[in-house]
Amino acid sequence: MAEPFSTDPYKGVRDFYPGDWARMIALFAQIRDTLARWGYEEYNASPLERAELYEAKTSEEIVSEQTYTFIDRGDRRVTLRPEMTPTLARMIAAKRRELTFPLRWFSLPNVFRYERPQKGRLREHYQLNVDLVGIGSSEADIEIVTIASELLKAFGATDSDFVIRVNSRELLNAACKVAGLTEEDVRSYLRLLDKRSKMTPEAFTAARETITHTDPLAHIEAEPIESVIATLRERGVKNAVFDPGITRGFDYYTGLVFEVFDTNPANPRAIFGGGRYDGLVAVYGGDPVPAIGFGMGDVTLIDFLETRGLLPQTNANAPHLYLGTPVPSDIPAAQAFAETLRAEGGRVFVNLTERSLGDQIKDAVRRGIPLFIAYGANEVANQTVRMKVLASGEETELPTSLLPARLRSGG
Ligand code: HAM
Repeated sequence: MAEPFSTDPYKGVRDFYPGDWARMIALFAQIRDTLARWGYEEYNASPLERAELYEAKTSEEIVSEQTYTFIDRGDRRVTLRPEMTPTLARMIAAKRRELTFPLRWFSLPNVFRYERPQKGRLREHYQLNVDLVGIGSSEADIEIVTIASELLKAFGATDSDFVIRVNSRELLNAACKVAGLTEEDVRSYLRLLDKRSKMTPEAFTAARETITHTDPLAHIEAEPIESVIATLRERGVKNAVFDPGITRGFDYYTGLVFEVFDTNPANPRAIFGGGRYDGLVAVYGGDPVPAIGFGMGDVTLIDFLETRGLLPQTNANAPHLYLGTPVPSDIPAAQAFAETLRAEGGRVFVNLTERSLGDQIKDAVRRGIPLFIAYGANEVANQTVRMKVLASGEETELPTSLLPARLRSGG
């Protein structure tokens, strides 16, 4: 006999049942609201990209070990996007003459990485991307880090719940040069530094010794970053700190880089991160365009919010009213009545089963719908209904004409 068909989703990805998806929608709604206040516009693109997009300039580890790449029926190599930044850079390079800079753009794509599934890491996640494109000054750096902080604060987090660790690729590169590293060594060293938190200090030093005998971090100059941190503090972001060990995994970063961490040690992984990438747009054509932004994954964000009880309420679009039908022949009239309520903004669930009214009330309770009305021949004839508040059992008789206003005021 054949194996029974597995109903599990593919390894490392999630099904979103309506309750799960409602939670995601509530999360996205809070994020969209915050970004709209900052004047950021939402964009989107397909998850399918030509594989060359990533081979040009991103990160060796992601391209060689973590991408989902396949050959399509026309012999083209296609990659499911592992991140959004190359797509964004390609889109900007394609329309650079038509676009009005600076761009303040955000996106909520699903992205795919072939990783070992574990806490905070899946093979598909939703990743908020916020990018400010066309401004090379530290004012842009400050805006992006401030938005990173405001997003968490909008969910109710406070400065003591998280810390923003800031560094600079420019300063790291300069320090590596002073330490005498070649360009190739710099790349190897930065990749090693990015993995430092997952290694013992001895293992890290031993690996560093294979690249260089002098510690580049001993040569890092901190004043320019300290001045950005001081400005952030003046503008209300009080939890940014300089951390010379923050480097980020992608080769395209050129300036300020940062990662946001939970101060609760139960969540040791970065919640999210980003940085300046002034050379990436030019990789896809034309002059360089300065850009800075960050990516924030839903998995790490939810872990952070959940441990603090800050996940937003999810029932914003749930039905207000369950319209019961005493007998099945009442269904057409109930649907017609529901239509008039919907036209006035009511969210109405109509019973289509042959269950008894008692069982329909139980069904409404199970579904979390707050109000119940049985709509049958008497209600049609008299144009009055008895509305039951299921939480209290309280019943009110009212003319059908008053119902839309009652639904709008929440019953
Ligand atoms: P990244 O650090 O690779 O940066 O990813 C950003 C965030 O996405 C991570 O901090 C984490 O929240 C989430 N994330 C990454 N991989 C996974 C995974 N396998 N499972 C769950 N969550 C994950 C970038 O992708 C850059 N492109 C961000 C950026 C935008 N830089 C400038 N603009």
